[in-house]
Amino acid sequence: MALDHLFSPVKLGALDLPNRIVMAPLTRARNTPDNVPTPLMADYYAQRADAGLIVSEATAVDPLGMGWYRAPGIWNDAQVEGWKIVTDAVHNAGGRIVCQLWHMGRLVLPDYLDGELPIAPSAIAGEGETMAPPPPDYDGGFLPMKPYAVPRAMDAADIARAVASYGKGAQNAMRAGFDGIEIHAANGYLIDQFLRSNSNRRTDDYGGSVENRTRFLQEVIDAVKTHVSPDRMGMRISPTSERKGMGDENPEKLASTIGQIAQKAGMAYVHLIEPVASGFDEKPEKPVISDLRRDFSGAVIHNGSFDAATAERAIADGEAEAISFGRPYISNPDLVDRFSNGTDLAEPNFDYAYVGEAKGYTDYPRAT
Ligand SMILES: Cc1cc2nc3c(=O)[nH]c(=O)nc-3n(C[C@H](O)[C@H](O)[C@H](O)COP(=O)(O)O)c2cc1C
Repeated sequence: MALDHLFSPVKLGALDLPNRIVMAPLTRARNTPDNVPTPLMADYYAQRADAGLIVSEATAVDPLGMGWYRAPGIWNDAQVEGWKIVTDAVHNAGGRIVCQLWHMGRLVLPDYLDGELPIAPSAIAGEGETMAPPPPDYDGGFLPMKPYAVPRAMDAADIARAVASYGKGAQNAMRAGFDGIEIHAANGYLIDQFLRSNSNRRTDDYGGSVENRTRFLQEVIDAVKTHVSPDRMGMRISPTSERKGMGDENPEKLASTIGQIAQKAGMAYVHLIEPVASGFDEKPEKPVISDLRRDFSGAVIHNGSFDAATAERAIADGEAEAISFGRPYISNPDLVDRFSNGTDLAEPNFDYAYVGEAKGYTDYPRAT
């Protein structure tokens, strides 16, 4: 099958991609327990440097927003130094990498915060459970699971601190040699908690109307813009996802309002999670990609259960400028070559998706 569109170059703002295959952000938990990137991660990302663009694993901007054992941060100098090794390795291998800026909000367990409550727009818990920090006798295997706690509703000072931490995170990311940043406004984390009507019941300027619910996102964009040119800035959204208790009264309106904000900011791209088939996330009954695109004339990276054929068609039809692949990148460091040669894909081993060292991380072989 010809994949001429998938293999054509494209510009996302100032980012020049040699192909339209994007490595989706993947939390793999190979950092130090102090949230500092490791040289092993440099090998892993460099193995995948022929992607048109790599989006880093979610990277916390503030210890208050960090609730994932061995995920990375970008709030201190040690983390910046760790990331420099990774960005150098990707650049030396000919690639491009942006940093996904993250704050988990209500999805941080109190166990990560010395017993303090996590913060969120409203005191409503996320649905489900997540991995707790390791017990004292931890042997490196699966971590114990705990349900999410009811968070503390943020006051004005909490909001100001969170916004400032995104600005600082963006500044640090550029110091660490990233080619740009992606604001993580998806998957039920802090910004998404503000955006969606199920998790945001505020009665002040940050809640109620869709204009108010997007105010926090707008402030984060403004803070990031102080340090990063908008043509090197993207954001990731999932306005139809219902995981972790997320939901919205009008996802179409939300998508179109986010499109207007991205347009006004002059952002390089919007990265939309809206699966074309159920898999990691559910395929939505009513997709909102056309609502987003009506208001945003920049590039759209589309994500969710794509393969080479569906990706080629989406780009040929002008539905998206690039497609990102998540699970395929776990087990296929040579995904670009496999697509190009029509080689079958290797299946990921999820036992090592979120825990471990080199096994199940950097040891997936290339096809040739
Ligand atoms: C192991 C794993 C880790 C993930 N970590 C992140 C992350 O850090 N940030 C994010 O926005 N999405 C994350 N996701 C979601 C993926 O980026 C992607 O949206 C999802 O895998 C669906 O794409 P796919 O069908 O190509 O796998 C993760 C998914 C997996 C499987």
